[in-house]
Parts: sequence; structure tokens; C-alpha cells
Amino acid sequence: MGLEISKNVSLREMNTFGIDVSAGLFTSVQTTEHVQELVLSSSFQTNKRLIIGGGSNILFTTNFNGLVVKNEIKGREIVSEDSNHFVVRAGAGENWHSFVSWCVDKGYAGLENLSLIPGCVGASPMQNIGAYGVEMKDVFHSLEAISTEDGTRKEFTPTECSFGYRESVFKNKEKDRWIIVSVNFKLNKRPVFLTNYGAIEAELERMGVEHLTIRAIANAVINIRKSKLPDPKVLGNAGSFFKNPVIELEHFNTLKLKYPSMPSFPVSERAVKVPAGWLIETAGWKGKKIGDCGVHAHQALVLVNYGGSRGSEILELSTMIMGDISEKFQIQLEREVNIF
Ligand code: EPU
Repeated sequence: MGLEISKNVSLREMNTFGIDVSAGLFTSVQTTEHVQELVLSSSFQTNKRLIIGGGSNILFTTNFNGLVVKNEIKGREIVSEDSNHFVVRAGAGENWHSFVSWCVDKGYAGLENLSLIPGCVGASPMQNIGAYGVEMKDVFHSLEAISTEDGTRKEFTPTECSFGYRESVFKNKEKDRWIIVSVNFKLNKRPVFLTNYGAIEAELERMGVEHLTIRAIANAVINIRKSKLPDPKVLGNAGSFFKNPVIELEHFNTLKLKYPSMPSFPVSERAVKVPAGWLIETAGWKGKKIGDCGVHAHQALVLVNYGGSRGSEILELSTMIMGDISEKFQIQLEREVNIF
């Protein structure tokens, strides 16, 4: 199949913030071979490019004057199994939540805490998505990617991906050098229930669950997310806009004197992670609306587009928040969302 490249395509429906910008050039890919053909084309090699999946972690501040490639590679299958695990492969363009739900229904355990995260499978390793006590790296087996230089295929092991908190080699050393085409997950035949993240226990109790199953956990997570996080189809957003900052224990102890209720999670003997949502709420930003954008009323870590906001306005709002948090807490927030 030949490459079909369109000009001046609206990206509004392709980013969950719902920002009305366009791509100078646009194409979509449905197979690995298609990706290889695209990579070797002059349109790809001579233009600035951006690969998108669900567009759920992007803020466009201007039109993209280059080539946008939408990854639509589908497919899900078991590729191997042993007595304890299934290795399940999913195409990078599969919707993340549909894939998780499919695994939960089949009884492949390990992804249930990651239910309802927007976006596609191929983006999950980019920033090692995580929620409710589980990170993607905990169930990651390997992935296959195509080199943007010469179209060759490579399999990446967990070590080669260098996963960290919302980090991987694909955001750092190998940035823009690979297009992920499929991801393999190592899922359990016998579930290990992870319910220690406070809100899950409480929700399972509220639901009256007596016999714990991975479906019950998935449903609890879905309920919690629905209550706190806005549905991008209703209110444009990209999930957490900032990362939770890690600060020195000494710094935390000083702040704690002034803010006794400040939550923290240990990351080492000398450092703690502080919820950015708490900092932003305490600084008075929760529910604030500026123009057509604002800070979500139920979760201060999420910035929202009320409909007609420009990306630059949301970026400006985030800069104001970062300045205020730095002034009030001497903590430098870092954006989690990719800005273009
Ligand atoms: N908090 C506040 N005010 C707020 C929001 C949070 O005080 O407006 C406090 C909560 O009371 C709680 C703590 O902050 O003590 C943690 O809140 P929550 O459980 O909502 O999680 P989070 O740290 O704000 C992270 C992830 C989310 C993930 C949740 C659940 C990051 C950047 N975000 O948020 O991920 O769903 O934990 O595990 O790590 C995403 O990355 O897009 C995302 C939504």
C-alpha cells in the first residue's frame, strides 16, 4: 500500500486537550511494514515529525509545521506462556483501556490497577504510566520498535528501556529515534491483588465486594478515576499536568513545620515525593478558571480546557502555577505533559 500523506489536517480530535491546531502534513500507519516504508520516505526524513497515539499527553501551543504520524497498529494475542504467566502482545495503536479490559475479562492479571488511563498501548512505555500502586514497568516484558533512521526493527528489554517514575529511554537518550510498534506484557495466571493504595480499599468496601477479583479492582479503579479525573470527551485535559516532585528530607521537614498536613511518600533515606496536587491546592489554585482554561475542581494536578482555550493559554497557566509553587514552597514543579 502506498503512503498517503494529507496536508493541513486538523488535530483537534487527536489531542485530549481538544486544542484546535493543524498538522502541515499528516498520515496514519496500520502495520509495522507500513511504518518501515514511511520511515524511509523523503517526507519523513526531511520533515520535523511527531508520532501520536491517543494524543493524551500532549499540549499543542501552535500548529505543527511538520509531519504528524498517527499510530493505528492494532492486534492483541498471547505470544507465549509458562505455568505462571502469559506473555501478551498488543499493537501500539490499541486503545489502552480496551486492552486492559480485555486482559481483565480473560483473567490475565497485572494491568487491572491501570484501568481507564487514556491513550494507546504504544505510549505506555514512553513515560512508564502508573496509577494506584502499579507502574507499567511492573508487568512489562519487552517491546518492538522501528528505527527512525533506517527502518530496522529492534526488540527492547526492560533494562534497555531504563524505566523510572514517568520516565524511559524513549524520553531521554533515545528520544525521537524509535517508533514503538508493539508491546509485550508478562501477566499473571494467578492474580496478586494490589489494594494497598488507600482509595482502592475504601472503594472496594463501598462497593460491598466480598470476593476479590481483578474485575472488582478494575471497577474500583474506574470508579475512583471517574470521580476525580475529568473525561477528556467532556472536558479537555491530559491527566496529570505535572509530575509529583521529589524533595530532600531536610527541605520537607522545614516545610512540615509550617504545613503539618503536607503528605509525603518516601523514595529513599534522604528524599520524599510530595503530591503536586496537594501543593497546587494548598496554594489556592484548585478550581480556578482563567479565560477558557483552569485547574480541575476535583484534582488540582489536572489542567482543563473548558472548550475554546488555546494551548499557549494553558501553558501560561502552568507557568504561573510553577512560579507560585516555587515561591511558596521552594519546589520546582516539572511538567509531565509534552509541549509542542
Ligand atoms: N491531593 C490534594 N489535592 C488535590 C489532589 C491530590 O491534596 O487536588 C493529595 C491527595 O489528598 C493525596 C495525594 O495528593 O494525599 C495523592 O493524590 P492522588 O491519589 O489523587 O494521586 P496524585 O499523586 O495526585 C498520581 C498520578 C496519577 C494517578 C494517581 C493515582 C502522577 C503525576 N500522577 O496522582 O496519574 O492516577 O497518582 O495513582 O504521578 C497521570 O499521570 O496522568 C495520572 C492521572
